[in-house]
Amino acid sequence: MKKSTVEEIRKRFDNDTERFSNLDRGQLSTIDAKISLELITEASKRIAPKAKNLLDIGCGAGNYSLMMLLKMPHLNCTLVDLSKPMLDKAVERVSQKANGKVEALQGDIRAVELPENHFDIILAGAVLHHLRDDSDWEATFEKLFRLLKPGGCLMISDLITQDTDVVNDYVWEKYGEYLESIDGKEYRQKVLDYIAKEDSPRSMNYQLDLMKQVGFSKVEILHKNLCFGAFGGIK
Ligand SMILES: C[S@@+](CC[C@H](N)C(=O)[O-])C[C@H]1O[C@@H](n2cnc3c(N)ncnc32)[C@H](O)[C@@H]1O
Repeated sequence: MKKSTVEEIRKRFDNDTERFSNLDRGQLSTIDAKISLELITEASKRIAPKAKNLLDIGCGAGNYSLMMLLKMPHLNCTLVDLSKPMLDKAVERVSQKANGKVEALQGDIRAVELPENHFDIILAGAVLHHLRDDSDWEATFEKLFRLLKPGGCLMISDLITQDTDVVNDYVWEKYGEYLESIDGKEYRQKVLDYIAKEDSPRSMNYQLDLMKQVGFSKVEILHKNLCFGAFGGIK
């Protein structure tokens, strides 16, 4: 199937700000969304306790930055998203809680210009699964590594695949059952069709290996439940 273009992804999210403004209601299709959010933000705080600068890529309506600010209210926040309505919502919500500076950049994380060696924490919530081929993944991980200060961390919470086809099929079958248990067969099909059209996730193993390849000194797995995981690396 031909995957969505960046423009199609942007338009889709332009109309979805409300759904992403409430973690409880908005992300039912994401297994353990709240657990992963808590784990990657708390781990970030502990890895970089003197952090000053946070980068939230694919920030959506700002849920990840908001949770980070609950733990570290002094952080300067740089928010990046393709979608202007999402970004506006994130700025509105994050500005109410931030003691530091809030900066917003509309654009593709692959293209936006950001300062290197500057960020203590980079959070990537449900966004990297939009990357496509190997070169796309490699260039993006290399870029994120360059943006981090030594000792800083990249923390990811995302949709993932398995490396072995039979295991992958099994895990996605279980995810289908999960979706059906929340809201029936139609919902299951709707979410799975949407993923097939829009997303191109990679396995946790692939992403951890790539982190090591681009220079991260350590990688960490925080959580995994079927096709969702929370993990990261330290520069
Ligand atoms: C599933 S939402 C997640 C939002 C937020 N991180 C959260 O978990 O609540 C994904 C967001 O990433 C943005 N996005 C997708 N591809 C992107 C890209 N290449 N660069 C920047 N943002 C992107 C979308 O516009 C959308 O707001």
